[in-house]
Amino acid sequence: MCSIIGYLGANQAAPILVRGLKRMEYRGYDSVGVATFSENQISVRKGVGKVAEVNSAAQLDALSGTVGIGHTRWATHGVVTESNAHPHPSSSGELAIVHNGIIDNYADLKKDLQQKGYVFKSETDSEAIANLLQYNFDQTKEIKKSMVSTVDQLKGNYAFVAVFEDGTLAAARLHEPLIIGVGKGGYFISSDVLGFIEHTDEVIYQDNREFVIINSTGIQIFDFEGNPVQHQITKVSKELADAYKGDYAHFTLKEISEQPITILKAGDNTKLELDLITEFVKHAKNLYITGSGTSYNAALVAKHLFSKYAKIKIEPLISSEVQYSPNYFDHQSILIAVSQSGESADVLEAVDIAKKDGAKIVSIVNIMTSSLVQRSSISVGLNCGPEIGVAATKSFTSQLAILYKIADKLCGGCMGLDFNKVSESIYKILSDHSKIQSIAKKLKDISDIYVLGRGIHFPVALEASLKLKEITYIHAEGLPGGELKHGPLALMDSNVYVIIINPNDSTYTDTLASAHEIKARGAKILGISDRPNEVYDYWIEIPTISEALFPLIEIIPIQLLAYYSAIEKDTDPDYPRNLAKSVTVK
Ligand code: G6P
Repeated sequence: MCSIIGYLGANQAAPILVRGLKRMEYRGYDSVGVATFSENQISVRKGVGKVAEVNSAAQLDALSGTVGIGHTRWATHGVVTESNAHPHPSSSGELAIVHNGIIDNYADLKKDLQQKGYVFKSETDSEAIANLLQYNFDQTKEIKKSMVSTVDQLKGNYAFVAVFEDGTLAAARLHEPLIIGVGKGGYFISSDVLGFIEHTDEVIYQDNREFVIINSTGIQIFDFEGNPVQHQITKVSKELADAYKGDYAHFTLKEISEQPITILKAGDNTKLELDLITEFVKHAKNLYITGSGTSYNAALVAKHLFSKYAKIKIEPLISSEVQYSPNYFDHQSILIAVSQSGESADVLEAVDIAKKDGAKIVSIVNIMTSSLVQRSSISVGLNCGPEIGVAATKSFTSQLAILYKIADKLCGGCMGLDFNKVSESIYKILSDHSKIQSIAKKLKDISDIYVLGRGIHFPVALEASLKLKEITYIHAEGLPGGELKHGPLALMDSNVYVIIINPNDSTYTDTLASAHEIKARGAKILGISDRPNEVYDYWIEIPTISEALFPLIEIIPIQLLAYYSAIEKDTDPDYPRNLAKSVTVK
C-alpha cells in the first residue's frame, strides 16, 4: 500500500526520506519517488521498482535540501510507470504532493482544473490534489486557506503531504493513517511510525479531518474548517524499531521462527480486557466476527472454538462483504474485528457499518495505535511485534491464541489450554527444516496444490492455501474433506499435490479416507499429522497435543513449506507481487 514520508529539519532530507521508505517497504509498492525543496525550488526524482533499485538508478538520496517528501506507490489509478509515480508536482511546479488513498471525484476535479488551464501529466487520481491545491493557493496566496478549500473540495479517503515552494510542509488526513514524529533535529510525517522510529519515538496522532502545517517556526494543527486543535505528544514503543531481519534471510522466516515466543505473549497483561469481552459476548444477542485474508481465517477457527467448547454461536463475516448484506447489526450485537494492522479499509468499513447500527466493537489487533483500536470499545493486543512479511504468519497464531483464551473463559476453563506445550511443540516443528526444504524442491514446478482438512482443520487448510498462493504463486485451494466427492475429485491426477491436515483426533479416520480416495486417482499426498500412514507420499510429523490445540501448531510446517517453495521458485517471500501488507483502500 502507498507509504508517505515527509521531513523538515536541520539535516539533509533526502537520505532520511529514502531510509524511511525502505523501512516501510513491507507495506507493498511498485514505484518510488522523492521531492525536496532547496534554493527556492522543488526537485523531484522517481522511478519504477524497489527503493534500492530506483535509488541507485536515480540517486534519490542525493537531492539536496532540508525539507522533502517521499512516497512508495501501490497502483490504483493508472498503470505502474514513472510518470504515475509520486511525488506529483502541480502544473506550475510551485508545490508537489504525495498521496495515499483514493480521490473519488478526481475526474470532475481534473476536468474543471484543465478548463482553468492546469496541466496534468499522469493518469493518477492523486495529481488532482496537486493542481487543486495549487489552484486554491493561486486564489488565496495563503497555505492555510488553500488547505481548507482543498480538503473541502476533495471527496474520498486520503492522507497527503505537500511541499510548497517556500519550504513549508502541509498534510491532511481523512480515513488514511498519518502520524507526526517530533524529533530533536526536526519533524517527520508518515503513514507508519516505522518511517521515522529510528529518529524519534515522540509522536502526535493526527485525527481524521485534520491538517497540519509545518515550517521552520514550528507546527500547527487545524480541523478541516481551519480551527486550531491541540494534541498531546505521546511516546511509541521502541520495540517497533526492531523491524530488522537480523541473521534471517527474510522477514517471513524470522517471523515464522518467532512463534514459540509470540504465542506466549499474545494478549499479555489483558486479563481485564479478556474478562470484559467474555461478559460482553455472554450477553450479546447476536455475535459476529470479521476480518480480511488471514484474519478472516482466524475468525473461521473461532467459530468452531466458540460452538464446540463454549456452545455459543458466532457468525464469521468477510469484512469486504458486510456492506452488501446490511441489517446484520443492532444494539444487542457485538462485532469482534480481527486485524493485524488495524488499518485494513475493508475491516474499518465493516466496523463503521456495525457501529452505525448500534453494535459494540471489540478488536483483536497487533498495532495498538491503529484506526481500528480508536473505533473499538475494547481492544486486545497480539503483542507479537512488527510483522513485516506481507503474508501473515505469527499474527495468525497470535490471533488464534487470543480467540482460544476467550473461548476458554466462556466455557469456564474447559479447554485446558497449555500454551507452554504449544510453544514447545512449535519449537520442535521448527527445529529441523530439512524435510520441508526437500519437499519444497518437488513443489517448485507444479501448478496446482490442494489443502484438505475437516472440522476445525478446514479453516487452517484455507489459511495454508492462502500462504501458498501469496508467496509461491502456485494455485492453491483449501477444501473441506467431505466436499471432495462433490466436485474437486474430478481434478485429481498425477500432476496434483494434496496436503492433508490430519492430526490424530476426531477427524482422523474420515480425513484418512479422503486421502485414500485422492491417492487412488494418482495425486501425491503430503500428510501433516502426529501419526504416520502409508497413504502419505511425504509425512511431516507434528507433535501430539490435546485435540483443541492442533490448529495452533499444524499451520507452522505449511508456513515453512510456502516459504521454502518461494525460495525454490526464486520469488521474494517478504514482498509478493501485487500484494500489500496493509490494504488501506477499498
Ligand atoms: C492484506 C494482506 C494479508 C492480510 C490482510 C488483512 O490482504 O496481504 O496478508 O491477511 O490484508 O490484514 P489485517 O492487517 O487486517 O489483518
